[in-house]
Amino acid sequence: MLTPNLRSQFPALHLLRDGVTPVFLDGPAGTQVPQRVIDAIVHYLTHCNANHGGAFATSVESDRIIDDAHAAVADFLNAPSPDEIIFGNNMTSLTFHLSRSVAKVLKPGDEVMVTRLDHDANVSPWVLAARDAGATVRWISIRRDDCTLDLDSFRKQLSDKTKWVAVGLASNGVGTINDVATITREAKRAGAMVFVDAVHYAPHGPIDVQTIGCDLLACSAYKFFGPHVGILWGRRELLESLPCYKVRPSPMSLPGKWMTGTQNHEGLAGVAAAIAYLADLSPLPSGEGPGVSGRRERLRTAMTAIRDYEQRLSRHLLTGLVARTRFHVLGIRDVDRLNERVPTVSVTAENASPQQMAKYLASKHIYSWAGNSYALEVSEQLGLEPSGFLRLGLVHYNTVEEIDRLLAHLDAMPK
Ligand SMILES: Cc1ncc(COP(=O)(O)O)c(C=O)c1O
Repeated sequence: MLTPNLRSQFPALHLLRDGVTPVFLDGPAGTQVPQRVIDAIVHYLTHCNANHGGAFATSVESDRIIDDAHAAVADFLNAPSPDEIIFGNNMTSLTFHLSRSVAKVLKPGDEVMVTRLDHDANVSPWVLAARDAGATVRWISIRRDDCTLDLDSFRKQLSDKTKWVAVGLASNGVGTINDVATITREAKRAGAMVFVDAVHYAPHGPIDVQTIGCDLLACSAYKFFGPHVGILWGRRELLESLPCYKVRPSPMSLPGKWMTGTQNHEGLAGVAAAIAYLADLSPLPSGEGPGVSGRRERLRTAMTAIRDYEQRLSRHLLTGLVARTRFHVLGIRDVDRLNERVPTVSVTAENASPQQMAKYLASKHIYSWAGNSYALEVSEQLGLEPSGFLRLGLVHYNTVEEIDRLLAHLDAMPK
């Protein structure tokens, strides 16, 4: 069970526009933040704004906050060590940075696998790395009817030439959850490294890099109730051994080796606060003493509670949309398969483009996105370019009442 008053912690959910409370269905492009994230950022800038590694009070305090952020994210992802957590501008920049290094170790004849389901931030960096190294790109195809990855196409192309597999944990276009643990196990057996894009999945359920077994995993705090900060976890041996583009005075040790330039320190304070917010959604008690669970366990149970609540939202939205024959839901529609999708539901409609629908909904203060949301390949595979689809993205602060408001407006939408 989630805390009943959690919406009251998000100031943006209560700001009126033309006297109306908006419905935020734009979470996949960035979620709203709880007050404690805003407070942490303001506190940082007011009390401890300084560069890294100084002997004076603000720098010492700033370093403590940065260390806390590494430790909080390590618990969020179940990473073995806070040193393996790298921060940067956003997932795209971190992935391009890393892919430059990967291009240095790839050779002609090597193969890199990407999918037709992923956001382009988990496609182009690897395609360009392969191009630079003279390696070959292999594509994992999708089943068009339910937008799931075709694991047969993965298995057919996997060989000892495969050096790198890049796969998303969940699709930001159509909401499919991919079985990354199986893909990782088979890829590792073939000797490949596995990079997982967890940006879209992160607000929707627990992530455990050790259970997945991957080598690297990226996400972005602004998609899980934090500020605009990118996050990369990597296996220590890999992060230590890969060649890295860096300036000479910065450390060769982790995590500094991969964190180029001065970080967004106030943002890191906000990341730790977002994770504290999530941990506090856990049904387990916090604090010190016997019988109290650690932050990792509290995060795992909180994210499981979020997943369970969101499945109720998915069921309600999918049932409502499927019953309205004017709309075509992309991907998994079957409410018996809710554990295979997150509550990101994309649709097309008869006699209305995605852009017309998003504009109409915006005029009713319902915020959604139209286009391909950079899930370019899946949009092309479904024959939807250049308009793409309308994306309705639910997170745990959305409600059944908001879905009913959406459906009522869709019913009234001009034909
Ligand atoms: C699945 C997925 N991967 C990667 C990205 C890129 O993330 P960032 O904006 O942090 O670069 C996004 C952003 O929408 C995304 O949804």
